[in-house]
Amino acid sequence: MLGPEQDAPSFVHADWGGSACDIGLYSSRKRHVRESPADRSGCQLAFQAVAKPTFKTPKGTRDILPGEADRQRALVNTFGEAARRAGYGHVMTPMFEDLGVFKRLGEATDVVTKEMYDFEAKDGKRYALRPELTASVVRAFVQHRPLIPWKVWYEGPQFRYERPQAGRYRQFSQVGVEALGTDDPAIDAEIIALAWDFYATLGLRQVTLMLNSLGDATCRPAYLDALTAYFNDNLSLLSEQSQYTLQVNPLRVLDSKRPEDQAVIDAAPIMVDFLSPETGEHFAGVRRVLDRLEIPYDISPRLVRGLDYYTRTTFEFTSTALQGSQNAIGGGGRYDGLAADLGGPATPGIGFALGVDRILIACDEEGVFGAPSSLVDVFIIDVTGGDEAAVIGSQLQTAGIATDRAYDARSMRAQFKVADKSGAPIAIVIGEDELAAGTIQIRTLQGEEREQTSVARTTLIEELKKRLT
Ligand code: HAM
Repeated sequence: MLGPEQDAPSFVHADWGGSACDIGLYSSRKRHVRESPADRSGCQLAFQAVAKPTFKTPKGTRDILPGEADRQRALVNTFGEAARRAGYGHVMTPMFEDLGVFKRLGEATDVVTKEMYDFEAKDGKRYALRPELTASVVRAFVQHRPLIPWKVWYEGPQFRYERPQAGRYRQFSQVGVEALGTDDPAIDAEIIALAWDFYATLGLRQVTLMLNSLGDATCRPAYLDALTAYFNDNLSLLSEQSQYTLQVNPLRVLDSKRPEDQAVIDAAPIMVDFLSPETGEHFAGVRRVLDRLEIPYDISPRLVRGLDYYTRTTFEFTSTALQGSQNAIGGGGRYDGLAADLGGPATPGIGFALGVDRILIACDEEGVFGAPSSLVDVFIIDVTGGDEAAVIGSQLQTAGIATDRAYDARSMRAQFKVADKSGAPIAIVIGEDELAAGTIQIRTLQGEEREQTSVARTTLIEELKKRLT
């Protein structure tokens, strides 16, 4: 019978793609990467070879390598499935838009004034890489005039020229939903529940939901008057930046994180005291459904969020597993005026976006939703030269079984080493004897007891499927 002990390794496998080599990639302190001596030698090889690369990722961006990228894809797939089950169709919009689309996010927001990657293209027009997707989706809604309610989900990278730090990047990924065409409070609650349940599906437990209503055109002006008067009365106590913000948008002063502003902000009038009867009723409706769904929330009267388009319901999810200011793992709210602002018919809308990069850091902190331990189900060890591995690999992949193999006609022992590192639960082994007899060895690669069985090649797929279910 064939076995891994039969011959000596011909060379050490250089591990260029494994997660152990992702030096400096992850920002999480607790992330644990299993590292074997072979991994380390592979890392050294890879590291020496690229010790002084000519080009590196731009500041605030990062390469997400296999393993972690597969984990991110799994997260997006999980989200997409949940959104699809709730009646949301997938929408994909360009990564750049007319600059004007994003100007509508608010002239007083950092996202517009300081963080936009805008540029003039060869056609002389000004564009911007999208800093978020809500404006793009509403632009698409106005352009295509779909039936309402229009419920869509999305995923992909966003670009903001922010000061990079742990959990804050210049290119980051979001998943999100938008629903246009109804202002039924039930959809506000439905959307919040979708995000809440998604975090739970990933295994996150340390998530807090903050909820507020920012009023609407009928009641917000009176609130803004009261707020402006209050801040003007306390002007000398506010930071210089907040004094400036007050001129442009008094609401955004509430969003200041500067310590010197906090005492004034804490005593400021709050929007919920100014809600009109209709807006108050709408907010009560959202809370009633959330209560029925048993979703816990904190009413946060000073939650204004970082974009200017919000009306009525606003919300944010934070992770208590994340420290510091980068603990927001998602947020959203109503933007009932945005479609009209972008030239469309007055149409209410609501949505959220969740930060994929930060969610994965929160998952690391809570020890949930790890990277898949293996990308493949079966590793093929072919000591007849390699052609059989090509044929069997193709057959198994067509049958839906993920496979990998070794290359360069290595020794059996070397191939078993690669098989072990692949994390595949099963290896199949084919040598000259098996080829002649029309058989193949199936060997388990995990657990204390490594079993090896010979099966007829004609029954291989059936036998593997039995073991993989
Ligand atoms: P946002 O609060 O700007 O909202 O972003 C949503 C989430 O994206 C944040 O909670 C955070 O997790 C993540 N995020 C934002 N900036 C960064 C960054 N620089 N690095 C890493 N992650 C980041 C929006 O984008 C709105 N479009 C949400 C929305 C949808 N409102 C209505 N519909």
